[in-house]
Amino acid sequence: MKESLKIPHDEIQKLPFLLKNLVEVCRCMNYQVDVIDRNFIKVSFTKSFFAGANGDIGINPINPHFACEVVNDKARTMQILEKEGFRVPLGKHFFISGVYSEKGKKLKDVFSYARKLGYPVFIKPNRLRAARFAEAVHSEVQLKEIVERIAEVDSIVVIQEVVNLPEYRIVSIDGEFQYSCRRLIPKIDGDGLKTIQELIQDFNTKLGRNAIDATCPYILNQFKKRRLNMNSILEKGDSLPVNSTADLRRGGSYSEYSETISNATKKWLKKISDIFNLRVIGIDVFSEGSINHPENLTIIEINHNPGHKAPPIEKVQNIIKLVCQKYFNESDIQRA
Ligand SMILES: Nc1ncnc2c1ncn2[C@@H]1O[C@H](COP(=O)(O)OP(=O)(O)O)[C@@H](O)[C@H]1O
Ligand SMILES: [Mg+2]
Repeated sequence: MKESLKIPHDEIQKLPFLLKNLVEVCRCMNYQVDVIDRNFIKVSFTKSFFAGANGDIGINPINPHFACEVVNDKARTMQILEKEGFRVPLGKHFFISGVYSEKGKKLKDVFSYARKLGYPVFIKPNRLRAARFAEAVHSEVQLKEIVERIAEVDSIVVIQEVVNLPEYRIVSIDGEFQYSCRRLIPKIDGDGLKTIQELIQDFNTKLGRNAIDATCPYILNQFKKRRLNMNSILEKGDSLPVNSTADLRRGGSYSEYSETISNATKKWLKKISDIFNLRVIGIDVFSEGSINHPENLTIIEINHNPGHKAPPIEKVQNIIKLVCQKYFNESDIQRA
C-alpha cells in the first residue's frame, strides 16, 4: 500500500493549502510522505527526501538556500534590482532596533526621509510576510506608531513611496512562465443594513489570525476621506476598501488569471530568475498597463515560495509535481 494513503483523510484536510496539495501529488507519484506536524511534512522517493513546511522553508527544494535568503531580505532585493536596472518603488531601509546601524539609516532618519518623500508613505518590515505591518501611513503620528510595533518583530523597516497601480503576481519555474494573476485589495460590500463594524466583523471571521485591524491607519484614512465611522451603514452597491495591501491571506482576492504572457515578459522573468539564481519564483509587481510590456512593471517583492492560491487545483498540483520531479531526478543524477 502506498505510504501516503495511510494518512487519515481528515489529517490531510487540516494541512495548510500548499502542504495539502503536496500530499496529493505524493499520493499520485507514489512518493512516501510523513506528516511530522501540521506545518511540516517529509517527502521521500528512492534514496532522497526533503522536508517541506509553510513559510520560510517552503516546498521548493530546488531553490538554493542562498537565493531564498537574499529574497527574504526585501531591502537587499530592492538594492540588487535597482542596480540591475529594474524599476522598484522609490524607497530606503532603516535600522530601527538591534545592534546594526548605518549613518543616515537610523531610527531618527525614518522620519526625515518620510517627510522628504511626502505623506502618505508605505512602510513594511524587512523580513515579514503576508503583508503583516505593511501599511500606507498618512502622518508622522501613524508612522511612529507602526515603527514601534514593527520594532518588536523586525530590526529593519523599508519606507517607500505609495504606488497606486494595479498589482499582479507572476510565477515561473526555471525561467518557464507558469501563470499570472491580478491581486485586488480587500473590500467590504454594503447591504444597506449592516454597519461598517458589523461588515468588518463578518469579513474577519474568514481570516483567522490574519484578521484586519479595524483601527489601522488605512481604515481611519478611508473614514476621514469619506466622512464615515464604524457605525455608518454602507449602502447597497457601495463598497469600502479595508486594507492597503493585496495579500490573499489578508482578505485580498484575484482576477485576470492567465497562463499565457508575451515573449518580452518571459525574457524579463528569466533575467530576474537568473540574477537571483532562484528557480521557483513569484514576482509581485505594480503594472502601469498590460503586464505583457515589461517596461510597465515596477517590482514590489520576490517570493521563493509563492502560495498558488489563484490557479485551478490541477495547475497547482502540476506545478508541485514538476518541482518534485526535478528535485528527485537531479538527486538521482548527483548520486550516480
Ligand atoms: N510601495 C508600495 N506602495 C503601495 N503598496 C505596497 C507597496 N509595497 C507593498 N505594497 C502592498 O503591500 C503588500 C505586501 O508587500 P510585500 O513587499 O509584497 O511584502 P510581503 O508580501 O512579504 O508582506 C503588497 O502585496 C502590496 O499590496
Ligand atoms: Mg508580497
